[in-house]
Amino acid sequence: PAPGWSIDADVVVVGSGVAGLTAALRCEAAGLTTVVVTKARLDDGSTRWAQGGIAAALGEGDTPEQHLDDTLVAGAGLCDEEAVRILVTEGPDAVRRLIATGAQFDASTDGRLELTREGGHHRRRIAHAGGDATGAEISRALVEAVRASGRGEREARPAKGGGGRRAGLRTIENALVLDLLTDAEGRTAGVTLHVMGEGQHDGVGAVHAPAVVLATGGMGQVFSATTNPAVSTGDGVALALRAGAEVSDLEFVQFHPTVLFLGPDAEGQQPLVSEAVRGEGAHLVDADGVRFMLGQHELAELAPRDIVAKGIMRRMRERDAEHMYLDARHFGAEMWERRFPTILAACRAHGIDPVTEPVPVAPAAHYASGGVRTDSRGRTTVPGLYACGEVACTGVHGANRLASNSLLEGLVYAERIASDISRTGVHARVPQPLPAAERPTHPLLPPEARLTVQRTMTRGAGVLRSEASLAEAAERLHRLHADARDALDENGKTAEPGVDTWEATNLLCVARVLVAAARLREETRGCHWREDRPERDDTAWRRHIVVRLNPDRS
Ligand code: SIN
Repeated sequence: PAPGWSIDADVVVVGSGVAGLTAALRCEAAGLTTVVVTKARLDDGSTRWAQGGIAAALGEGDTPEQHLDDTLVAGAGLCDEEAVRILVTEGPDAVRRLIATGAQFDASTDGRLELTREGGHHRRRIAHAGGDATGAEISRALVEAVRASGRGEREARPAKGGGGRRAGLRTIENALVLDLLTDAEGRTAGVTLHVMGEGQHDGVGAVHAPAVVLATGGMGQVFSATTNPAVSTGDGVALALRAGAEVSDLEFVQFHPTVLFLGPDAEGQQPLVSEAVRGEGAHLVDADGVRFMLGQHELAELAPRDIVAKGIMRRMRERDAEHMYLDARHFGAEMWERRFPTILAACRAHGIDPVTEPVPVAPAAHYASGGVRTDSRGRTTVPGLYACGEVACTGVHGANRLASNSLLEGLVYAERIASDISRTGVHARVPQPLPAAERPTHPLLPPEARLTVQRTMTRGAGVLRSEASLAEAAERLHRLHADARDALDENGKTAEPGVDTWEATNLLCVARVLVAAARLREETRGCHWREDRPERDDTAWRRHIVVRLNPDRS
């Protein structure tokens, strides 16, 4: 659809989690005119749901080198060591800057940070806030910093007809970014977006900017049950694919081992039970109270996440059970209330009291270890397009992200992007006016296709995969796409453009690539578990699957 209005900026940041807001604040501080566009409110998205914390070598005796070692082990041979080195060495100062921005972490009376442990960490190195509400506190601090930036300006939607370039930091909420705009040389020139609650044409606009930072978060909603909020629909990866950017490692979807089990048919966002609960001494047990992780790994319940998820799934199979249990009754009421108030409230809201009974848990989709491929400055393969946070694949996570490295990665790489943009400068050429599309070029899916995608993915490409299950999923997804494409080709008809149709379309786009990559990788590695290929194959598969679509096709 033709953009009804446009505004100009030096940088447009898409997304408002830890990565997006950090990039925006740093760009603004460097004197760049910055616009943040976010699909819901500034504090929606995954960051605010993060519980356990943020990992960094901040404790006595800990070093970036030890953090590096743990990250590389978790990544199962596919981490980019240089990217990890950047993360762990720049991480501690990035956390200190976050504290200076206003985030209040739990600390002792003498001001020393309280640190906890999570899976795969050989040390206490996870800083947390509000006990188990770390993401909420980080989000609060960053949103406040954006609002208080003095020049910050909040808009429900920009004035019709556009606004021209303004100094400072400007935010547009409730706006879904649709596609990347590029100039004649293929350089980034901005984005088109759909402001929600508007009529189809009034609501479509553009932000012209020579630098675009994707910080749209994850794609957990591609599965039926996930810890991710409803907004995590893979929009950034889908946009990047349509723009011809390279995407890597999509097959490595991390399934969090301990998600509150609400029934076999539970769908949508599910309550997380943080790894930090195990970090503080909770045990994983079966219905007979047997600790089945003992003897499976030297760290038992604190093994890397993929190993614990597999341990739980195996035991579930052996016992023909729908879930296992997390037993932390020995914490007592006082510790539960002080240390894990969010989880305690969520369990109690579902009729489970962790103080007196073990908590039923099962794995659910949690984190995309892959994403839009970037270099160490956050640059994607499309000039002027950057990515950071969960949407990005910086190489830090390899085949399985180490617990609590995600907030840190968002911080560190957002800062690197802001310095790269301010160091290299922004080029001034922006095409005007924007070409108006005569008719939709993408076959848009009807909103109800979202459920079909989710169920197909859970059945065929979930924790356990095989060539047979993946082939079935691929076929079902292909049919969904072909039906929409046929309707477009035959009579120019497509589902009515709108946020829910775009989300369904984006989910299908990322699901198809994910399944294709998972079929290709004929081995088991990290969080990619192929039942028909149970071994890790370092000869053939110590490498990445990188995908780039022809920009003319979707
Ligand atoms: C958790 O608190 O268990 C989640 C931490 C993470 O995903 O890194």
